[in-house]
Amino acid sequence: MAVNIIGTGSYVPKNVADNQLLSTIVDTDDEWIRQRTGIKERHLSSGSKEGTSFMAIEAAKAALEHAGVSAEEMDLIIVATASADTYVPSTACQVQGELGAIRATCFDLNAACSGFLFSLNTADAYLETGMAKTALIIGAETLSREVDWSDRSTCILFGDGAGAAVLRREEGEGGILASVTGSDGSQGDVLTCKGRGIQNPFYKSRRKKDYIQMNGQSVFRFAVSTVPKYIKRVLKETGLEPDDIKYYILHQANRRILESIAKRIGVEMEKIPMNLDHYGNTSSASIPILLDEVNRNDLLQPGDKIVLSGFGGGLTWGATLVEWK
Ligand code: ACO
Repeated sequence: MAVNIIGTGSYVPKNVADNQLLSTIVDTDDEWIRQRTGIKERHLSSGSKEGTSFMAIEAAKAALEHAGVSAEEMDLIIVATASADTYVPSTACQVQGELGAIRATCFDLNAACSGFLFSLNTADAYLETGMAKTALIIGAETLSREVDWSDRSTCILFGDGAGAAVLRREEGEGGILASVTGSDGSQGDVLTCKGRGIQNPFYKSRRKKDYIQMNGQSVFRFAVSTVPKYIKRVLKETGLEPDDIKYYILHQANRRILESIAKRIGVEMEKIPMNLDHYGNTSSASIPILLDEVNRNDLLQPGDKIVLSGFGGGLTWGATLVEWK
């Protein structure tokens, strides 16, 4: 049996904020942002009607249509997000309700920017053990509400959007061949976005709403040292060489991080598709949005091998090697 990706979809808001626009909000400029990150523009939500659940639903509809399957066939829906509209119900239950996926078990998963990979890994485990046959996994984020728009070191990095994939356990070979995830909570302080303070009869927190805070250079060092190590691990597990992989679909955080990863695994940049120039870092949505672009541009043929890999707050990381169906 194989666990295949049988359809992909994505959604980004129409509103586009280019670097020039941001330079009117904080003390920055287009040249600094492009040189340090590769980002030219990012898509931002138009308001509460275009939040995380709305974008997740739109990406899910596109993925189901692309896969040619109905919502009723879903046994499992997982939404990776660190910026849900509501604590309860989960975003996954909102997707279920809107799509009418009445048979599905639904929950959200937070592994920051690694969330889509963790969802892929979790869904694979459900499918491999026979607990589910068909699953919908989504990465959806409205990071524009988690960002301090007066902090030039973070507000230039992020964008909003969602990406989705449909997975199915089927007869045959290929599909997900190897998968690895990991976490290091001892380094959690490197990238944080704290929740609400405690308010109860015993305690009144004075904490105000918190925003994303990041030690950019630590995240940079972590990313370039960890991601290549885990990519090499899934290659070794499958007996493949770096050049056997058609594309490395990597978390879109920073062009310099991607260039360094390419160098460390010893492949040309043509194997590392990139769209961060147009979307910025959309956290858990970045890998499925890019996968959808590559897929819809007919760049993948049956038998092609791809690696999905990324890193994020927590700290968290993962890599998955897939033989395309
Ligand atoms: N415009 C102009 N100047 C800026 C800006 C800005 N937007 N932001 C920071 N600066 C200034 C700083 O104030 C500093 O000035 P100083 O030297 O006078 O103190 C100078 O630029 C250098 O700042 P650094 O933080 O050292 O810049 P660096 O080269 O490290 O680039 C960046 C910062 C882009 C964040 C980089 O560290 C990075 O990409 N890190 C990786 C982190 C990442 O990608 N995170 C994404 C989210 S995490 C995730 O996806 C898991």
